[in-house]
Amino acid sequence: MTGPARFIALEGGDGAGKSTQARLLAATYAARGRNVVSSRQPGGTELGARIRRLLLHGDSMSARAEALLFAADKAQHVAEVVRPALARGDVVITDRYTDSSVAYQGAGRELGVEQVRDILMWAVDGLVPDLTVIVDVSPTEGRRRRGSVHDRLESESDAFHDAVRRHFRMLAEGAPDRYLVVDGTMEPAAIHDVVVARLVGMGLLP
Ligand code: TYD
Repeated sequence: MTGPARFIALEGGDGAGKSTQARLLAATYAARGRNVVSSRQPGGTELGARIRRLLLHGDSMSARAEALLFAADKAQHVAEVVRPALARGDVVITDRYTDSSVAYQGAGRELGVEQVRDILMWAVDGLVPDLTVIVDVSPTEGRRRRGSVHDRLESESDAFHDAVRRHFRMLAEGAPDRYLVVDGTMEPAAIHDVVVARLVGMGLLP
């Protein structure tokens, strides 16, 4: 069933468990009769999948090139997946969105959060989620959960991941009406309940 379009982003550090939350949330919307489009970034489109391989498993690259490739992935994702789905009246749940770039490239890579945000906002033509859920865990906990498999970003130092985490939390503090920070060390079902309660409270979930 289509209805009022909803756009919800899941953000957080590596190993936070946001993909699990994205899945649970998609199931809840579907159970309430809504059409759901789930996507991940980087990589939610065919072009995005190619960009993803370059970004995560390719050769090293300059920090600015990295930021622009993440921006290109999101530009394609929004044009090809998100906007058409919202125009149909679907619910779009995205695993990572522009705040990941602002936190990882802007704060983590120290490229400047304002500049990276401006580039990303241009890439997505200003599209902002109705709610962004930040699943918060410490870099140490994230590293423990990921085990031994690390991509290019995950291999960064704890100081890098700390800067990323601090930035996510700062974004949320600056706009509490558009963000929800949840403690990623809680049980997945308990985190999901917090997310659902917030969405119901905002009138975004029937
Ligand atoms: P992702 O596939 O979401 O990994 P995970 O499921 O482990 O969270 O993202 C891959 C990596 O890319 C992750 O370390 C975060 C990083 N990333 C950025 O640095 N900038 C971005 O804009 C995005 C979307 C991800």
